[in-house]
Amino acid sequence: MVSEECLDTEGASVIPGTTITILPRMLGYGGTAVVYDGYDAHYQQHCAVKVSRTANDVAQLKHEAQIYRHLGMRTMGVPGMIWSGKIEDKHAIVLSRSTGQQPLTSFAPMASMETFRAVGIKLLACLREIHYKRVVHGDIKPPNILVFEPRSGRVQVSLIDFGYAVLMNKQYLRQAAEASSYSIARNVRGGTCIFASINWQRNTSISYRDDLESLVYTLYFLKCGALPWCVAHKGRVQALDTDHMLECKLQMCQWIKASGAPPQLASLWQYARDLQVDEEPDYDYIIHTIFQDF
Ligand SMILES: Nc1ncnc2c1ncn2[C@@H]1O[C@H](COP(=O)(O)OP(=O)(O)O)[C@@H](O)[C@H]1O
Ligand SMILES: [Mg+2]
Repeated sequence: MVSEECLDTEGASVIPGTTITILPRMLGYGGTAVVYDGYDAHYQQHCAVKVSRTANDVAQLKHEAQIYRHLGMRTMGVPGMIWSGKIEDKHAIVLSRSTGQQPLTSFAPMASMETFRAVGIKLLACLREIHYKRVVHGDIKPPNILVFEPRSGRVQVSLIDFGYAVLMNKQYLRQAAEASSYSIARNVRGGTCIFASINWQRNTSISYRDDLESLVYTLYFLKCGALPWCVAHKGRVQALDTDHMLECKLQMCQWIKASGAPPQLASLWQYARDLQVDEEPDYDYIIHTIFQDF
């Protein structure tokens, strides 16, 4: 908890009608939004203020706010939404935030085996929670995962960025069953497909199974610091073209074996690939059988 007097309020602005101040410190940015540090004077706690970049990104932020509203304030590993609304011609979402959290990107490939295991187990627990509430995240990747590793104590993990999330309601499942090769969520998904599932790349409707598959790519990246379909070029990481990427993804079990990454990742990948579009993952089986000795 930080007292208000400690805050540097120069360049800060209060969101009209609220007790929330947007502080002039950027926490990060993505394809659709810029995220600032914030402070809620009423609850005396820091928060994250996610503001759409352009007028075109407003619809996505509104969609994300709907998903957070559906998930409620108490979904384990997911920030609670404190406020959502218009700021001038932009849309903003204010989310609860624990200080010290860093995107998972900054942990790879330095993650110790202990951190790797803790992050893997926590992320599975997060997915179990959101899937139980019928939400598919749809964009599981390191920048959308925040990790706090205290010097002593347990690793904390938060899943953020529900901009491409899908609610698996009856209407979605009916459309998914009818659509043979057309993804109904495709129109809202953009950006990179490095961590995307094979189904997503093939335009098949996304569902629970795709979050699990992307989790495997994310954990492989955390362990190995790269993915087989990313190459280093002039000091930057570049992905192979999408056809090559797809070919590599289909060989994932072999890549896992060759890299020395835990074999449980190959079992989880195969389990995810074998699920049907409307099939809910059996998390008891995943945690107690696949990840038994993780
Ligand atoms: N609560 C937070 N604490 C620290 N950094 C954050 C927080 N929320 C977002 N970020 C940073 O901002 C980046 C973009 O946020 P995100 O919600 O993924 O936006 P986008 O929808 O544009 O991808 C994240 O990758 C992360 O680096
Ligand atoms: Mg993001």
